[in-house]
Amino acid sequence: MFKVNILTAYPEMFPGSLGYSILGKALKENKWSLNVINLHDFGFDGRKSIDSEPFGGGPGMVIRPDVVEKALLSFNVKDPNECKFIYLTPSGMPLKQSNLLEYIQFSELVLLCGRFEGVDQRAINVLNFIEISIGDYVLAGGEIAAKVLVEGCIRLIPGVLGHPESLLEESFSNDLLEYPQYTRPRVWVDAKNKKHEVPEVLVSGHHENIKKWRKDKSMEKTKFIRPDLIKK
Ligand code: ADE
Repeated sequence: MFKVNILTAYPEMFPGSLGYSILGKALKENKWSLNVINLHDFGFDGRKSIDSEPFGGGPGMVIRPDVVEKALLSFNVKDPNECKFIYLTPSGMPLKQSNLLEYIQFSELVLLCGRFEGVDQRAINVLNFIEISIGDYVLAGGEIAAKVLVEGCIRLIPGVLGHPESLLEESFSNDLLEYPQYTRPRVWVDAKNKKHEVPEVLVSGHHENIKKWRKDKSMEKTKFIRPDLIKK
């Protein structure tokens, strides 16, 4: 079973959204498990503090390395070679779909959620965390980023998705964005009484033409929105 360990100052944030929909169902069915560790349980003083001022000055506080190490030693990682250690930070490598596919090859993840001005770099280096960002913007902490990473991973685990074939055509699976989708009604009359029809080819029943139309639309959309994906 795929195990996810989360080190956080806000354990109440979990499972949160991870307890819903296909992820929640898979959690109940023991297709994955979640172990949430409260960093404050390993605080260094009577007030269970986990952070101190940055050396060299500057605003904010930094999570201490001794606190992270104690939290990490408080539970058993089955096999460190089978475990990926990830620190969520805006200054990390950008997360890609290909990374998610790599992570689910491990039997376990340890996700460290930063808060404040981040985590002491010695903890990151010595405890072998890789640094991962979910995008070029700054959140208030790593918890939402950790949830994004976990959600992206769990849906890739065999047996979690109802229609696994949808993984083959979705965005990024072939370095293209997915083609647009349409459903009923075939002619939608909007509130202003304007008619909008579904592209004719999709209701033609001609599978080869549909395949080609979707490929063309994928390409067109990717060229327009994400030309960087095509260059790759
Ligand atoms: N923590 C704050 N912002 C973040 C981001 N963009 N990615 C990962 N962790 C974060």
